[in-house]
Amino acid sequence: MDELTTLLHGIARDFAPAVFASSLGAEDMVLTDLIYTAALPITVFTLDTGRLPEETYALIDAIAQRYGKRPQVFFPQAAAVEAYVSRHGANGFYASVEARKACCQIRKVEPLRRALAGKKAWITGLRREQAATRTALDVESFDADNGLMKFNPLAAWRDDDVWNYIRAHGVPTNALHARGYPSIGCAPCTRAITVGEDIRAGRWWWENPELKECGLHPPSDVIGKRIAKENAA
Ligand code: ADX
Ligand code: SF4
Repeated sequence: MDELTTLLHGIARDFAPAVFASSLGAEDMVLTDLIYTAALPITVFTLDTGRLPEETYALIDAIAQRYGKRPQVFFPQAAAVEAYVSRHGANGFYASVEARKACCQIRKVEPLRRALAGKKAWITGLRREQAATRTALDVESFDADNGLMKFNPLAAWRDDDVWNYIRAHGVPTNALHARGYPSIGCAPCTRAITVGEDIRAGRWWWENPELKECGLHPPSDVIGKRIAKENAA
């Protein structure tokens, strides 16, 4: 067994019940392939914000076809979405960072809390290379916000490692990747990038790169070293 497979088996054994949060991005498809192929007792779930691109929904169907399983889906609370849209408008998140974070809170963070309730560990596809906010990421840490262990098994993986795995194993991926979308979130908050741009430049592209996190991950995982130092000063 390679190091990654050993780690996943260990999480399943020592931290049951363990779950894997899949955004259905390329790195998350690597982990989905490993978990489903080895039939590991780790529940794969996805947060369906209600604003995902069609290509992402198509990928969920492709997963079902390929592995005979569907990720568990968590939706936001209807009443919270109704209140937000009534107050800010359907696309109110473009107006300010606060309005954007409030939308992410309702559509992602609160459903994540429910998905993690009663679990001993969660697994993510976070990688250090992804962003200025992720350079200090550990493979393993205690997530004090959610009260369980958090594993980022691909923390050290480079983009090439992800795509080499995907090609070698014929893993299904989101059709948007081939159209210039290395990182995919909600449709209205994601756009294609151009050559030379940062891989997360298409996410919340109208915001400062150092603010571009949605609240799913605790600050210790997603604050860049420089910002952490400034905060400590
Ligand atoms: S995000 O936090 O800014 O949206 P990104 O899309 O890079 O981050 O995803 C990082 C990790 O967060 C993913 O590998 C996955 O573990 C988790 N994640 C992000 N979005 C979702 C989602 N919609 N459903 C489940 N997990 C998600
Ligand atoms: Fe709302 Fe955009 Fe956040 Fe999705 S990414 S939850 S649409 S603000």
